[in-house]
This record gives sequence, C-alpha cells and structure tokens, in this order.
Amino acid sequence: YGTIGIIGAMQEEIELLLAQLDDRFTEQHAGIVYHRGTFQGRKVVLTRSGVGKVNSAVCTQILIDRYGADAIIFTGVAGAVDPRLNIGDIVISTSSLQHDVDVTALGFPRGTIPYQEVSEYAADPSLIALAEEAGKKVYPERCFTGKVLSGDQFIADRTVVKGLYEELGGACTEMEGASVAQACFMNGVPHVIIRSMSDKADGSAHVNFAEFTIEAANRSFAIVKEMISQV
Ligand code: ADE
Repeated sequence: YGTIGIIGAMQEEIELLLAQLDDRFTEQHAGIVYHRGTFQGRKVVLTRSGVGKVNSAVCTQILIDRYGADAIIFTGVAGAVDPRLNIGDIVISTSSLQHDVDVTALGFPRGTIPYQEVSEYAADPSLIALAEEAGKKVYPERCFTGKVLSGDQFIADRTVVKGLYEELGGACTEMEGASVAQACFMNGVPHVIIRSMSDKADGSAHVNFAEFTIEAANRSFAIVKEMISQV
C-alpha cells in the first residue's frame, strides 16, 4: 500500500497512534482533522472523523481523493451484539451494513438500500488476514471476526440489541463502520474495521462505555499497530 488511511471517530480512538506518529503534518478539510505522517515506517494519514455515518463517509472520501489512501483501516470501540462477546473483546469485520436503513414499508429487508447492488459491504480479505494475524499475537483467545452493524444510534437497550442479533446476525454495533465501508466500496478501495467492545449495547451501555472506552480503544489500536508493522 502507498498510503494507509486510519480512521477513528473520537479522540480516544486515535490518541495513542497520534502520539506515535512521526514527521507529523496536520491540516483540516470539511472541518475534519487529518494527520499525515509515518507510523512504523509506513506512510499513513490518521484522522478523527467525528461520530456518525455522514462524518465518517465524508472523511473517507477525502482520505481517498486528497490523500490517495489505497487502504483504509477503522479503529475504535463498539457495543457487543453477539452475546458471546465480552467487554474488551476484538471484532475484525468480515462485512458491515447500516442497521438503521429502513425501507421495509416498501418491501425491502431491513438494512437494504433500495436499487443498489449491495447493502452489505465485504471487508478486504488481505486486510482481514493481516488483522487476524495481529490478533493472534496481541490478544489470542479474544479476537473474533464478524459482521459490523452501523447506525446513527447509540444502542443501550437489551431488547433492541437482541433484535439486532436475531434479525441481522451482527457481532457488534457502532456508528461509522458501514458508511466507511460503503464509501470504500464506491471507490474500489479496500478496507477493514477493527473494534474492541466498550459495552454490551444494553441497559448498562452508557455506564460501561464511560468506564471502558479508553481501554477498549487502546486494545483496538494495539491490533492496528501490529498490522501496520506486518503490512
Ligand atoms: N459504540 C460503542 N458502544 C456503542 C453502542 N452501544 N451503540 C452504538 N455505538 C457504540
């Protein structure tokens, strides 16, 4: 890869990487901050997209157009959807979709964008393999692969999260991955999403999120760091 784009939504999700970015040059586009530099000897652009699908989609397009990113890695935290996952566990995306797209009234299945070839975006097999290798080194036992469900909603309800699992079969839920994936798909750029669980998207999610976000964000970063060192 020439330039690898690395996106986190919040400051906590880019903080450690930012501190380790060499030859840093920072600028803003569309109100989003981009840090160009080298990390583990690799050319990267690190950015904090802001929260939500629109922010992360605009951020991704700019990474591709202005910085020539030819691979994109998302790093951050998520709420666990699969009941087998615990706080701190890692999910490497195999695919992602937007769970809040709802045109069911017109007969389209939940999560399906009408008149589009695909609504569930596959992550890149090479990047998945790289992430899995990193996972085996950094957190053997606690790394999983699965479908990431994204929406402009912080999920904090046991019934809602159960519905996500049963209807869409997701591993975790967050607010940016699938929009990054869609923007990557539209541009033919490979991507993968790495998420560590900060909460279980249930009635305790807001409390757990506050307590575990920094630790989970740093666990996700540890995977990304190992990936970049092997790429
Ligand atoms: N990010 C971390 N936890 C989340 C949750 N429960 N819902 C949406 N995004 C999240």
